[in-house]
Amino acid sequence: MTTRIVVLASGNGSNLQALLDASADGRLNARIVAVVSNNAEAFAHSRAANSGVPSLSVTKLPDETREQYDTRLGEAVAAFQPHFVVLAGWMRILTMSFLSAFPNQVINLHPALPGEFPGTHAIERAHAEHQQSGLTRTGVMVHYVPDERVDEGDVIASVEVPIAPLDSLKTLEARVHAAEHTLLVQAMQQLAQAHDRNHPAPKPNQ
Ligand code: GAR
Repeated sequence: MTTRIVVLASGNGSNLQALLDASADGRLNARIVAVVSNNAEAFAHSRAANSGVPSLSVTKLPDETREQYDTRLGEAVAAFQPHFVVLAGWMRILTMSFLSAFPNQVINLHPALPGEFPGTHAIERAHAEHQQSGLTRTGVMVHYVPDERVDEGDVIASVEVPIAPLDSLKTLEARVHAAEHTLLVQAMQQLAQAHDRNHPAPKPNQ
């Protein structure tokens, strides 16, 4: 059965684009069935539209608790019957109200190595540490999201990204983003292949 992926993205969506491109050209044997954003202005919506993928905004209402919002978000995502939910630049911490609806199915991308620079501005913080104390590498990881801990969970794939002596924040960001685009596609292809093995398509006469 074709692996179905819903992507959650809050902003630019360059990693969403990497998944859309890989799905279109066959490097990723999976379908991006929907894009959901917490931000109606996110460029991710345009990227989805350009690929003919439905996208919707689920924005938090002022009188809603985080749990109520996450329940509503979970219902919107579940309607697309995903096998995996990929957080690609999703900048909200999800509560168990969302996560318990998708056990072992929520995957996060983070622009740092496991255990390093959790939270926002990870590349900026790695660059600052390079300047202050000579850090020579950072990295990228893709991991499961089992609970509310930020940027933690079993690692599916990770890769080191070197920091060059004369790197500006901009040049380092470009290198990290390029690594993300490759690693996210590889990790999702690995999961899609495992999914296909466990759920083979029925033969025509079955
Ligand atoms: C990416 O670098 C992603 O790893 C990061 O946000 C960026 C989104 O870029 N996510 C986190 O920092 C999560 N802690 P994009 O919108 O161009 O894909």
